Amino acid sequence: MSLVTTQQMLHDARKRGYALAAFNVENMEMVQAVVEGAEELKSPVILQTSANTSKYAHFSYYFAMVQAAAERASVPVALHLDHGDSFDLAMQALRAGYTSIMIDGSKKEFDDNIAISAKVVEACAPSGIPVEAELGKVGGKEGDEETSEDGYTDPQEAKEFVEKTNVSSLAVAIGTLHGVYKGIPKLDVERLYEISRTIDVPLVLHGGSGLSEAAIQDCIKNGISKVNYATELRTAFSQGVKKVLAETPDVIDPKKYTIVGREYVKQMAIDKMKVCGSVGKA
Ligand code: G3H
Ligand code: ZN
Repeated sequence: MSLVTTQQMLHDARKRGYALAAFNVENMEMVQAVVEGAEELKSPVILQTSANTSKYAHFSYYFAMVQAAAERASVPVALHLDHGDSFDLAMQALRAGYTSIMIDGSKKEFDDNIAISAKVVEACAPSGIPVEAELGKVGGKEGDEETSEDGYTDPQEAKEFVEKTNVSSLAVAIGTLHGVYKGIPKLDVERLYEISRTIDVPLVLHGGSGLSEAAIQDCIKNGISKVNYATELRTAFSQGVKKVLAETPDVIDPKKYTIVGREYVKQMAIDKMKVCGSVGKA
């Protein structure tokens, strides 16, 4: 089927108490792996590319690959811009055909975050494209900082933010980090529950890699409808490729090692969709 937006997907997940797994994909093999995994599980799925990834290849490349995979699948597939860091970049993704956009103004002051998020919502509305924004600071690689409770999302601010911007979903900071966790993170699930009671839009958890199954499921019970995974997918792809290169160092056909990277990513994506409870929800 054709690509769908995340609007209906997220509302269904919120209503039925599961989460969509959203996977950052870097190449064709990762796209194929995620969509094949979703197809096997009859699960809706979100593929995404970050601002950083769009510097490696233009959005139109990822759009073409994800569209090709979606058209061969029977499950709903959405393509999302992850951590869009400027209005211009969000518009580039929109023009390239992305069916969901994130504008990340979380490093800005509250009012400036509202202003840029509202501007992107307004620009995406005529095409019916939903917008995710972020309030609070998710630490780690994207943010170059550790998490601290000072940066956690405040429920009342979240309410004001959603009312003033009209965003379709909101990424919250409750103690997760991008990249690899040093210890076991302590997530502020009570705060999460409070935010979900206070605002009316689906909530997004960033920094999904490395969180335990129990932690993810606790977050879903307390209001999360989308979980982002990047690091663990990259690791899986690289481990598959490295295994072949270590065992057969003379190999020269890239297909001989990317095929194993693809298989590793598919297994990882399947595991994550099971944790999120999206199996059979397509
Ligand atoms: O936006 C992407 C993510 O939040 C993924 O974080 O690399 O820790 O899985 P991760
Ligand atoms: Zn993120």
